[in-house]
Amino acid sequence: MINNYELYNPTRLIFGENRIEELNQYLPEKAKILFVYGQGSIKRNGIYDRVIDILKGWEYVEFSGIEPNPVYETLMKAVKLGRENKVDFILAVGGGSVIDGAKFISAAIPFGDDEPWKLVSEHLEVIESIPLGTILTLPATGSEMNKGAVISNKATGDKLALISEKLFPVFSILDISVLKSLPKRQIANGVVDAFVHVTEQYITYPIGAKLQDRFAESILLTLIEDGQKLYDDIEDKDAGANVMFCATMALNGVLSSGVPTDWSIHMIGHELTALYNIDHARSLAIILPALYNLKINEKLEKLVQFAERVWKITKGSDIEKAHTAIKYTENFFKSLGISTKLSKYNIDLDFTIKSIKEKFESRGIDNFGENGIISIDDIEAILHKAK
Ligand code: NZQ
Ligand code: ZN
Repeated sequence: MINNYELYNPTRLIFGENRIEELNQYLPEKAKILFVYGQGSIKRNGIYDRVIDILKGWEYVEFSGIEPNPVYETLMKAVKLGRENKVDFILAVGGGSVIDGAKFISAAIPFGDDEPWKLVSEHLEVIESIPLGTILTLPATGSEMNKGAVISNKATGDKLALISEKLFPVFSILDISVLKSLPKRQIANGVVDAFVHVTEQYITYPIGAKLQDRFAESILLTLIEDGQKLYDDIEDKDAGANVMFCATMALNGVLSSGVPTDWSIHMIGHELTALYNIDHARSLAIILPALYNLKINEKLEKLVQFAERVWKITKGSDIEKAHTAIKYTENFFKSLGISTKLSKYNIDLDFTIKSIKEKFESRGIDNFGENGIISIDDIEAILHKAK
């Protein structure tokens, strides 16, 4: 039986070609804007100039340098700038890191405390936030149309999520012209991140949610077809448009409506990134095959459905189909130049297992995944399988 659910998503999507030029229609009149971006790609590819041209009509201050896997310490500098200038709107131009960083800034500016990290670490409710608009430059995380942000703290070694309805962007511009300057590595990362967002909400156990399942399968099929096309040819606009919409739809609340979700791949993957700065999507590609192989019996029905409907596997027993589907998924990641093995990263396995287990224990987590099927001890088995 499908669980009760409530679906709320207030973000306006502005999608297509040359949509950045319409930014002026969506910025609030007379707003005092904090314009935030990353480490310079928008200056090299011309997006900065296109944005600045429009911002001339507004009062604004600029903050640059938000890093991939945005860091609390850096974001607090933007919070200070925003408070000093009494900004009342934030414009984020970048990938998931810049948008996540902007979400944190939007919650932290009005937070009446010098340590807004507590919002993240203590899961405090976000009571107030500064409204945020975004121009997405990298299809991957879905942050442009969701209420989550993932923030890293250098001092504590944590990489944790902040989730609140106050963090939905008011609007997000998805202009496909931004794709042209993306390095292959980032295209691959985006496709794999979106793919795993879908599987985290789909490969659990069946509860009769036919439409959610078919939404999930349609996104996976499109990512397999057009993710590969875009990776091979960055000029393929149709593939670009399809991948971009897939990434947004993969994590905007639709797929998880009324169904069990997993998120264990992300939980372990985030720890690998916190420890070794491995790109987010690459951490997921390491964990997914190992975790699905370990939990093949618990996830069998959905793995078989995934095998039959997505990978069109018709031969073999259920277990064989599930194994083949995991293998095909691994091959798909590899075809995008993404390794599925920890050994690629030259890390100390025993230290990694110990560190991740300790982190989870310190947060009081003992079981996770759908129905708590992953135990702390499973982390060791998963990382051994992934080596
Ligand atoms: O720093 P800049 O100059 O912007 O360069 C970025 C960065 O180096 C570059 N880039 C972005 N757009 C470009 C471009 N280069 C050329 N042309 C363009 N058009 O790409 C690099 C990576 O950018 P980043 O924003 O870090 O990548 P991504 O979008 O994959 O975001 C990853 C972050 O999002 C979090 C991850 O944990 C990670 O911190 N996630 C956020 C989620 C959410 N809010 O819902 C869910 C995800 O599961 C994920 O955890
Ligand atoms: Zn992700």
